[in-house]
Amino acid sequence: MARIIQADEAVDEAVTLLEGGNLVAIPTETVYGLAADATNGEAVARIFEAKDRPRFNPLIAHVADMAMARQIAVFDDLAEKLTDKFWPGALTLVLPAAQKSQISGLVTAGLKTIAVRMPVGVARLIAARLGKPLAAPSANPSGKLSATTAADVEAGLGDRIPLIVDGGPARIGVESTIMKVEEDSLTLLRPGGVSVEDIEAATGRPVRRLSSGSAVEAPGMLASHYAPDAGLRLNAVEVHDGEALLAFGAIRAAGADRAKAVMNLSPDGNLLEAAANLFSHLHRLDRLGARIIVVEPIPDRGLGAAINDRLSRAAAPRGVPET
Ligand code: TXA
Ligand code: MG
Repeated sequence: MARIIQADEAVDEAVTLLEGGNLVAIPTETVYGLAADATNGEAVARIFEAKDRPRFNPLIAHVADMAMARQIAVFDDLAEKLTDKFWPGALTLVLPAAQKSQISGLVTAGLKTIAVRMPVGVARLIAARLGKPLAAPSANPSGKLSATTAADVEAGLGDRIPLIVDGGPARIGVESTIMKVEEDSLTLLRPGGVSVEDIEAATGRPVRRLSSGSAVEAPGMLASHYAPDAGLRLNAVEVHDGEALLAFGAIRAAGADRAKAVMNLSPDGNLLEAAANLFSHLHRLDRLGARIIVVEPIPDRGLGAAINDRLSRAAAPRGVPET
């Protein structure tokens, strides 16, 4: 059972837990979030473990102020206009990710864009006190409804997290609107707490809506964009000349000494650590220019299922839309 503490008395403990790499459920004006320090890969991996998410969707980074926001994303004039008008609030912006940021690759799921939001109230205060952005999906088990009260969070996730910060019922009760901002154009990825009409009025720009019915699925589909330039060979038991090796655990595939480069997701065979390293290791090996990255078998239990899901998408033939 998680402890449930009133928001104004919970901040110190929440910050201490987050600093230790733990998860904390926090209230926001939209829905409750399941928060981790966005710069700590293993903490972010715990989110997927706690939610039983079968795959790595990218997460929203919740910031305390614009200085923090600018460390992780690039804001053009249009994005600035939206933040002036709607932040803090129920609007998430998908923006180019800043080149050098401390954000874990698991937050963006390897994408070059990042979803950023400045929430109202105690969530914002906790990010400020931590001094780091909070990665937080809605605080519900995968496939279940979002939670809008501390009791909802307790019912769904109470046995998996140490603390729920109770801010009362969420004021808005639906998730944030997700808007992609690129080169002066706006695309709605998910309708939510801020209306499209208000966004069009504030910016004087039309919002592109994805064809009806697709908007809700769209973020998840975009999430699957990232694939390395190199080809991937999974469940490899043998390495050939010139291939790069993505290793796991203590025992190497045959011919590993022939590999152009080796990076180990987790020498100890720890799936949490492996998840935290997945995207950064793939990027590193890809940048070395190997034609093929071979991947040692990864057990399909726990987070291993999400790791294998992502790897099989990255290995799939290119140019085929994913479902
Ligand atoms: O109101 C909310 O937005 C709540 C509170 C806790 O902030 N959070 C929330 O998170 O609803 P989540 O993880 O349930 O939904 C976030 C959505 C996912 O569909 C994800 O695919 C999308 O945001 N997303 C995140 N990063 C993205 C990116 N770089 N490009 C496109 N979509 C992205
Ligand atoms: Mg959700």
